[in-house]
Amino acid sequence: MEASQPIGVFDSGVGGLTVAHALANLLPNESFIYYGDTAHLPYGEKSAEAIISYSIRIADFLLANGCKAIVIACNSASSTALEAVIEHVGDRAMVFNVIEPIVANIVDKHADEKVGVIGTKATIGSGMYEKKIKALKPNAHVASMATPLFAPMIEEGFYGTPVSIETIKQYLKRPALDNIECLVLACTHYPLLHEDIENYYKGSVTIIDTPEIVAEHIKAELEKAGKLNPSGSGKLQFYVSDYTASFEKTAQYFFEAEIKLEELNLWK
Ligand code: DGL
Repeated sequence: MEASQPIGVFDSGVGGLTVAHALANLLPNESFIYYGDTAHLPYGEKSAEAIISYSIRIADFLLANGCKAIVIACNSASSTALEAVIEHVGDRAMVFNVIEPIVANIVDKHADEKVGVIGTKATIGSGMYEKKIKALKPNAHVASMATPLFAPMIEEGFYGTPVSIETIKQYLKRPALDNIECLVLACTHYPLLHEDIENYYKGSVTIIDTPEIVAEHIKAELEKAGKLNPSGSGKLQFYVSDYTASFEKTAQYFFEAEIKLEELNLWK
C-alpha cells in the first residue's frame, strides 16, 4: 500500500459525494475514485444480504483500481455491511465507515442532550446509532426515526424546494422526535437538506452535519498509519452503475467543476 494510491469512496448514489467533497477539501494531495451504485438505489430499502453483496462487489472494484483506503460513505451500508467488508478486504486496504466518527462526536460533545437520529429504514432498523451511543454512554437519550422518502427525493434533485420543505415538515413534526436538542443526519444524502431542516427548526435544534466530522476522522487515521500522500495534486474520478443526469448535476454542484461521469455497471 503506497501513500500515493487513491482513496475509494462509495455510496448508493449522490449521498457519499457529501463525504467525498469534505475529504477532497481536507486532503488536496489525495486522489479519489467515487462509485455511486445508482442502479441499486435506494440501499435503505434493501435487505442486509443485498447491501452486503453490493458493497463487496464495489470494494473489489476499488481494490482492483489500487485504492489504499475504502470509505463506506453510506450509513445504510455502514450499519449492515461494515464487518463483511472489513473481513473481505483484509489487509489490502484500510476500511472506514461513517457511523463511528459521528458516535464519538455525539458522546464527546452532545452526550447530555436529547439526541434525535434520522436515516433510512436500513440504518434505523439496525439500531446501530443507539447501540453504539449507549455502549459508551448507557443513560444517553436517543430517539430514532426512519425518513425513507428523503434519499430518493434528494437523488431526484429535490432539495431547497417546496417538495423537500413539505416532506421534511411531515416527517419531523412526528412525536418520535419531540423535545430533541440535536439531530444527527444519519444518511449521507441528508446534508443536502441541511438548510431546509435548519429552517424547519429555526435554531431550536442543533443539526449535526456529518461529512466534515467523518473527513477529519479519516484524515487523522491515515496520518497515524503514515498513509497520507505527502505531495501531488489529487485526481477525481466518478463512476455510477446507472447514469442519471441529476447525479451529474449534484456532483457538479458540489465540486464546482465539470464532472466527467463514467457509467460502469459492475453487475453486467
Ligand atoms: N446515502 C445512504 C445512507 O447514508 C443511502 C441512501 C439510500 O440509498 O437509501 O444511508
